[in-house]
Amino acid sequence: MRYLTFALGKGRLARQTLELFEKIGITCEEMKDKDSRKLIFTNDELKLKFFLAKGPDVPTYVEYGAADIGVVGKDTILEEGRKVHEVFDLGYGKCRMCVCGYRDAKRYLSNHELIRVATKYPNIAKDYFYNTKHQTVEIIKLNGSIELAPIVGLSEVIVDIVETGSTLRENGLEVLEEVCPLSSRMIVNPVSMRMESERIRSLLERLRDCHEASQFSGL
Ligand code: PRP
Repeated sequence: MRYLTFALGKGRLARQTLELFEKIGITCEEMKDKDSRKLIFTNDELKLKFFLAKGPDVPTYVEYGAADIGVVGKDTILEEGRKVHEVFDLGYGKCRMCVCGYRDAKRYLSNHELIRVATKYPNIAKDYFYNTKHQTVEIIKLNGSIELAPIVGLSEVIVDIVETGSTLRENGLEVLEEVCPLSSRMIVNPVSMRMESERIRSLLERLRDCHEASQFSGL
């Protein structure tokens, strides 16, 4: 049996994923050693390999088949637009992609004005403004602290992730429109999906059962 390889988005996402995998009997003891500098971890008994990658790189590893399966946020999947199958909503990492700004910027949206939109997600922003709203805008790519853009006058609005809403509140900004809901998703390489269909199907069944059981107990 060949090894199935998982690419996990680094950080909280990977920790939550490994916790969930433990519940369905998929463990990787090697990965728990915090001092280890190893990049790839194996479970020889179950013939599984795991590695951690930067979120936006996860769909790339999966599209090229370097990983059979990936776990990453829906925001990254939409932004990267890779040829992968999204097979499961893991239910954690829930947040929303939103258009945000000062309250008075709402009129630019309703009047379809040519405004500047700052974002870490230029493809999502472009798709939303051009294909959903049919509004021509100028997209400005930033790499973080997006909320700064309307405050310092770089853009009228931003397209960004809102989780608790506290970053917006603390800076006098608001959600003006919702683009889409987000959460952690499992993606699969299309070839692996066919070649390893039995193992992947069984993994998905176990994840679904576990998911339903936890919802049932209100956890
Ligand atoms: C994200 C996002 C918002 C914030 C939203 O930023 O871009 O800034 O979290 O969370 P909240 O609604 O709970 O306040 P992140 O902390 O990942 O860092 P970044 O600003 O560098 O992108």
